[in-house]
Amino acid sequence: MTTTDGRISLPLLPPNHPLGRSSITCEYRCGNACSHEAPNTSDNAYFGDVVRSIVSRRGMLKAGAVLAVAGAGVAGLAGTAAAHPDHGGHGGGNGRPRGPKGLDFTAVAPNREDRIVTPEGYHNSVVIRWGDPVLPGAPAFDFDNQTAAAQAKQFGFNNDFCGLVPFGHDRWLMVSNHEYTTESAMFKGFSQANPTEEQVKIGWAAHGLSVVVVERERRTGKLLPKLDRRYNRRITVTSEFEVDGPAAGSAFLRTSADPTGRKVFGTLNNCAGGVTPWGTILSGEENFNQYFANAGSVTDPVVKTRLTRYGLAGAASTRKWENFDRRFDVAKEPNEVNRFGWIVEVDPLEPGSKPVKHTALGRFKHEGATIQIARNGKVVAYLGDDERFDYVYKYVSKERYRPGDSPAARAHNKKLLSDGTLYVAQFTGDSPATEFDGTGKLPTDGEFDGSGKWIPLASGDKSFVDGFTAEEVYVFTRLAADKVGATKMDRPEDVQPNPVNGRIYAALTNNTDRGKPGKEGPTEINPRNGNKHGHILEWEESRGDHTALTFSWKLLLVCGDPATADTYFGGYDKTQVSPISCPDNVAFDRHGNLWISTDGNALGSNDGLFVVPVSGRYRGYLKQFLTVPLGAETCGPVIEDDFILVSVQHPGELDGASADNPLTHWPDGGTAQPRPAVAAIWKSGCRIGE
Ligand code: FEO
Ligand code: CA
Ligand code: CA
Repeated sequence: MTTTDGRISLPLLPPNHPLGRSSITCEYRCGNACSHEAPNTSDNAYFGDVVRSIVSRRGMLKAGAVLAVAGAGVAGLAGTAAAHPDHGGHGGGNGRPRGPKGLDFTAVAPNREDRIVTPEGYHNSVVIRWGDPVLPGAPAFDFDNQTAAAQAKQFGFNNDFCGLVPFGHDRWLMVSNHEYTTESAMFKGFSQANPTEEQVKIGWAAHGLSVVVVERERRTGKLLPKLDRRYNRRITVTSEFEVDGPAAGSAFLRTSADPTGRKVFGTLNNCAGGVTPWGTILSGEENFNQYFANAGSVTDPVVKTRLTRYGLAGAASTRKWENFDRRFDVAKEPNEVNRFGWIVEVDPLEPGSKPVKHTALGRFKHEGATIQIARNGKVVAYLGDDERFDYVYKYVSKERYRPGDSPAARAHNKKLLSDGTLYVAQFTGDSPATEFDGTGKLPTDGEFDGSGKWIPLASGDKSFVDGFTAEEVYVFTRLAADKVGATKMDRPEDVQPNPVNGRIYAALTNNTDRGKPGKEGPTEINPRNGNKHGHILEWEESRGDHTALTFSWKLLLVCGDPATADTYFGGYDKTQVSPISCPDNVAFDRHGNLWISTDGNALGSNDGLFVVPVSGRYRGYLKQFLTVPLGAETCGPVIEDDFILVSVQHPGELDGASADNPLTHWPDGGTAQPRPAVAAIWKSGCRIGE
C-alpha cells in the first residue's frame, strides 16, 4: 500500500457507502438522507447561467480583484512550490527558509488504524466519554444496566460540536452537542421494531447537550472534567426551551400541549455550533425530520409540500419515539415538527437560564452558526443548511453588540439574535458555463471563482418573498429561499469567518446527486458531477464589511486524492499535500490557518483533522494532523494554542457492528464497548503545530 515516496495508495478499502459512511450511521444520524430523493426539487435555476450574459467583463474583473489582493501571490504559485516545506514554526534556523506558521509536524498518512493517530511527539487522552458522570450523583456508567435516570446525569451519546467558554485560568465550560443516538450500538439484543420504553427514554436523555467544567492539569497537559455542582448541566429531549424572535407564538408552532407556541421541550440532532462573543453557545438542530412519524399520511397539499421540503415522509420513524410520546407523530400533532430545525442558544455561564430557540435565524437543517461582529457593531451569523442542493444563509442583527461582560451587556447581547434580517446566498461564476463539464477541470482563467449577493428573505415582521408572510419565511425558510433564486450547493455544512483575515469559509461536504438526470449539473461553484469528496469555499464580503450585500468568492480546495486531476489545492503543488475527503467542520488557529475535520472519507481512510494555510505562498498546502479510530467521524474541533479537542463521534459504527458485535473497543480497549468521546491532543512544552 505504501508507495516509494512514502504515501499510502488510495483507496485503502472500498467503502460500502458511496461516501464512505456505514449504513448504520446513515440510518441513525441523518435518517438515510442520501438514499432518499434530495428534498429540493425546486426549479430554482443556477443564477450564474441566467445573469452571465448581462454581467460585463469589467464587472467580473473588479469582483475578482477583491480576493486576488487578499490572497496575494496565489495565482503565480500554482505548481511552483517544489521545495518540501516541512520546516515551519520553530524552523527557520540553520539557513533553512521558514515554513508555514503552525504546520511544523509530519503529516499523518491515510490509514485504517483503530486509534487516534497524531504526528510524532503529540499526546492524546480522552476528556470525557458517553456515560461519564456530568451531574453530581450520577452513577458510574454500566453498559448492561442503563437507565434513563442515569443517562440524564451522564455525558450523552455521539457528541458532535464542542465549544469552550473560558472560565478562569486553565479552566473552561466545555459544551458538547449530542447529535444522535445509535440504539443498536447502545443496547445488546436491541429490536429496532420494538424498542422498550426505557430504551426510548434513554435515547431522549442521551440527546441534547452537556455542559461540563474542564481543567487543564499543567503537569501532564491533560484536560480533566470536574463534577461541578453549580455549572455542570445536561439538556435533553425533555428540557424546556423558550421560543424567541418573530415567529415565536406563531400558529405554525402551536400544539395541544403548548397553545402559546412559545414553549418547546427538547432539542434534536444538534450538529455543529459556535461560541458567541458574549459567552453563550449556538447549536444547530439538523436532521430533525427523522424523529417524526407518519408524515406520509398527511393529505393537505400545502402541509404536505412543506413537510416534503424538509424531508418528512413515510410512516414509522427509525427510533419509534412516537410509540411513547404522541408529539412525535405528525398525524396526531402536526405542528410539533415545526418546533425543531432552529438555532438554539444556551448560556453555560447562567446555569439556571432557559435555553432559547431563535426563529429569526430561520428553520432548516441547521449545521451550526458562528458569529462575527461587523465593523458597525451589528452581529452577523453565517449558516449552512446541510442537504444536497440546499443553501447558505446569513443573519444580520438589528441592534449592535455591546462590549463587556456586565449583566446588562450580556442581557443585551443575548437579544441580538432575536431581531434582524435573514438572507440567502446567490453565487455567480465568472467563467463561461461551457467550461464546466462536471469533471472538476479548472476553467481557463485558472480559478473557480466569481461574485455573489445576499438576497433578503425577511427582516423582523417584514417579508421580502412574494407569497410568503414573514412568519412563513422563518418557519418554512427553505421554500422561501427556493422562490428567490438561491444557489443550490453541495451540502453546506460548517460556515465560519476567519478571525485573522475576515474571509468566510464553508465546508461543502459532497453531493453524489449533482449532474444526475433531472438534477442540477455542474456549476463553477459546485464543479463536479457526482461530487464524492466535497470542496471548501472561501468568500470575502465587499469592503470586508460583514453586513455587505455582495461578495466575491473562490474555491480554496476541491477535495479528493491529490493524484487525480479533479482535485485542486489552492494552486499549491499537489504532490506535497494530504488527501482529504468530505470536509465537514472548520476552525481556525491563531495564525489564521484553516482546520478542517472530515465526515465519511470516500477514499477509504479513517476520518481526520487537517490544517491548511489560506494566505501567502503556502496557501493550499494541506496537511493531515490526525485520524480518528475505525468507523468514527472527526468533529467539533477546538483549536487552542496549546491543545486541540476533537469529538470522536460514532467510533466503530461500521456495517455489521452492534452492541452484540462491537467492531472497535475504543477508547477503553479489551472487550469494552465503543464509546463516543471528546479527546484532547497536545505536545509537551509546545504550541500546536510549532
Ligand atoms: Fe451533522 Fe451536517 O453533519
Ligand atoms: Ca473562474
Ligand atoms: Ca457536521
